[in-house]
Amino acid sequence: MFWRATTILAAIAASTISLVNGQAPNSIQNWKNDFATVDFKTGSNGSFSAVWNNRFGGNFVVGRGYQPARDMQVLVNYTGTFTTTGAAYLALYGWTRNPLVEYYVIESMGNHNPSDNKSATQYGCLQSDGGTYEIWQKERINAPSIEGDKTNFQQYWSVRTSRHVGGTINTGNHFRAWQAAGLKLGTQLYMDIVIEGQAGAGSANITVGTPPKTSVPNSPTPTFRSEHAPGTCNFGTTSTSRATTTTSLRTTTTQRTTTTPTTTTKRGSA
Ligand SMILES: *[C@@H]1O[C@H](CO)[C@@H](O)[C@H](O)[C@H]1NC(C)=O
Ligand SMILES: *[C@@H]1O[C@H](CO)[C@@H](O)[C@H](O)[C@H]1NC(C)=O
Ligand SMILES: *[C@@H]1O[C@H](CO)[C@@H](O)[C@H](O)[C@H]1NC(C)=O
Ligand SMILES: *[C@@H]1O[C@H](CO)[C@@H](O)[C@H](O)[C@H]1NC(C)=O
Repeated sequence: MFWRATTILAAIAASTISLVNGQAPNSIQNWKNDFATVDFKTGSNGSFSAVWNNRFGGNFVVGRGYQPARDMQVLVNYTGTFTTTGAAYLALYGWTRNPLVEYYVIESMGNHNPSDNKSATQYGCLQSDGGTYEIWQKERINAPSIEGDKTNFQQYWSVRTSRHVGGTINTGNHFRAWQAAGLKLGTQLYMDIVIEGQAGAGSANITVGTPPKTSVPNSPTPTFRSEHAPGTCNFGTTSTSRATTTTSLRTTTTQRTTTTPTTTTKRGSA
């Protein structure tokens, strides 16, 4: 592959401020490979837009969110629109180190489900924020990551069984469910609401971190599959209970450092 792995992590400011849920984001994700054609723009109040039309092999990950991560168990509010003719995802996206993990909470997708891969394994389900998410894991060997071009790492996904755009992601519910299923997380680096675009074209207008004033656009539709049968999510049975978490919204306030927007450029893997 022709992916470059470049990581520019901002120096951590000495002062600390409180991160209240819904606060405007301070992290920008902006990575693309040589085959991607994407116009990514950031606007005021946590907004960003992306318009893309990728050539074959194109791949990008753009968006914005929060860093650094001391306790990333927060409520992430976002609103927006997302349309695509091809393979693209709207997701909460982040990385941890020790172990090295690339993670996604997939909110919507085009014609490809990222868990729809023979080497992916399901680890149960969780319920959060009015939806059911399947938990998936896949190992990446000799693949580019934030630590280099040829690295081994885990990918975890929570994949919402009905696509939607906009609302709240209680990140703690996902982190706890993954760890309860044996999928270990390390030190959190950052997390962003992103668009990952692969084949095809699309457009998105997203605002992160500003609590919406009106009801959230939300038109659930079934997710797409070919390789895998739909995951089994039988809540109330003991077999899936270890990966089941509550949906209660926490109003956690966490400490965070840095007061200025920072840019993180890295690769995102398919
Ligand atoms: C950004 O938020 C401020 C404060 O709520 C508001 O006054 C301003 O109109 C917003 N700007 C945009 C472009 O929405
Ligand atoms: C499955 O995942 C591997 C590793 O990420 C990737 O190389 C491959 O293209 C994927 N296959 C499909 C059908 O998406
Ligand atoms: C935004 O977050 C607050 C908690 O901080 C929550 O009460 C509210 O429901 C969220 N808004 C949306 C639209 O999800
Ligand atoms: C995003 O905003 C642009 C400019 O207003 C618009 O042309 C485009 O259709 C929007 N995309 C979506 C998915 O709403």
